[in-house]
Amino acid sequence: MALPTRVRLVDVGPRDGLQNEKQNVPTGTKVELIGRLADAGLRVVEATAFVSPRWVPQMADAAKVMEAVRGRADVALPVLVPNLKGFEAAVAAGAREVAVFGAASEAFSKKNINCSIEESLERFRPVVAAARDADVKVRGYVSCVLGCPYQGEVKPTAVADVAWALFEMGCYEISLGDTIGVGTPGGVKEMIEAVGRRVPIKKLAGHYHDTYGMAAANIYASLQLGVAVFDSSVAGLGGCPYAAGASGNVATEDVVWLLKGLGIDCGIDLDRIVETGRWISAQLGREPASRVARALLARRAAAES
Ligand code: HMG
Ligand code: MG
Repeated sequence: MALPTRVRLVDVGPRDGLQNEKQNVPTGTKVELIGRLADAGLRVVEATAFVSPRWVPQMADAAKVMEAVRGRADVALPVLVPNLKGFEAAVAAGAREVAVFGAASEAFSKKNINCSIEESLERFRPVVAAARDADVKVRGYVSCVLGCPYQGEVKPTAVADVAWALFEMGCYEISLGDTIGVGTPGGVKEMIEAVGRRVPIKKLAGHYHDTYGMAAANIYASLQLGVAVFDSSVAGLGGCPYAAGASGNVATEDVVWLLKGLGIDCGIDLDRIVETGRWISAQLGREPASRVARALLARRAAAES
């Protein structure tokens, strides 16, 4: 199959990235990050999560973040909601798009949202219905699509079952999460083919963490199957607080570089996204995890010296 000519990137750094920070990240820094990502050309930025502050204290300022960025009309700003309580708080703060998040692994579902897969789907149903009434878009996540930190193997058919349930419920897109980054292209192909038998490929997104350095290869494998939406995180920020050892998502800079090399348009300015990654990494007191960003910044420093 020919590769897609255009790809949509969803930067999940402000949520997936910052949910996992040990240090306190000021609300103003989160707001500035979202603005810089939009300025770099991102048209979708996952802004925050309306989850229990006891479970994820780093997202306790969700309403403040949303209220500060809601006026930005050129970018969609989805937020995570695990239940109706989160949905109502998100909409009250100005969210026009939300994401419910389930899993293909029973063990992970229990650890992450404190209920079984079946219970989670029952919990999401009224959220999707309320969103439809309020004209709010809903994205659906499936976690642990290529392996689970608690139960190990996850069958492609289990991923397809949950993906289909979310799609049938009314989620406009299903993001497939390799939560702990263990996947390799062969497994990705098998998993996407299984899901693609139930949900149209055009409705799928890849959400690959880069723990084992395989995320770019997994994106390439997904592109070959026609997937044209990918989640990434500027500077490779992040991980999941309920998946020990999981590193950040594939860095947005790395994906932009990969797509540029393939001649695929994603609308993102490479220099500006590298600069955004450098800026947020400096705020957090570290180097960008993106290899592409490091190489380009080193090249720039050498040229300036
Ligand atoms: P629970 O303890 O079973 O909830 O947690 P509960 O309904 O029994 O309520 C307990 C307390 O939480 C109550 O407060 C509720 O009001 C409150 P209390 O009366 O004790 O003071 N509460 C809330 N507060 C704020 N916002 C809410 C909310 N709901 C209840 N929405 C719950 C269940 C789902 C709430 C909890 O487990 C939770 O918040 N989990 C979120 C975990 C999380 O955010 N994980 C990271 C995101 S998922 C991810 O990273 C994976 C992804 O990137 C894809 C991938 O990589 O695979 C998406
Ligand atoms: Mg994730």
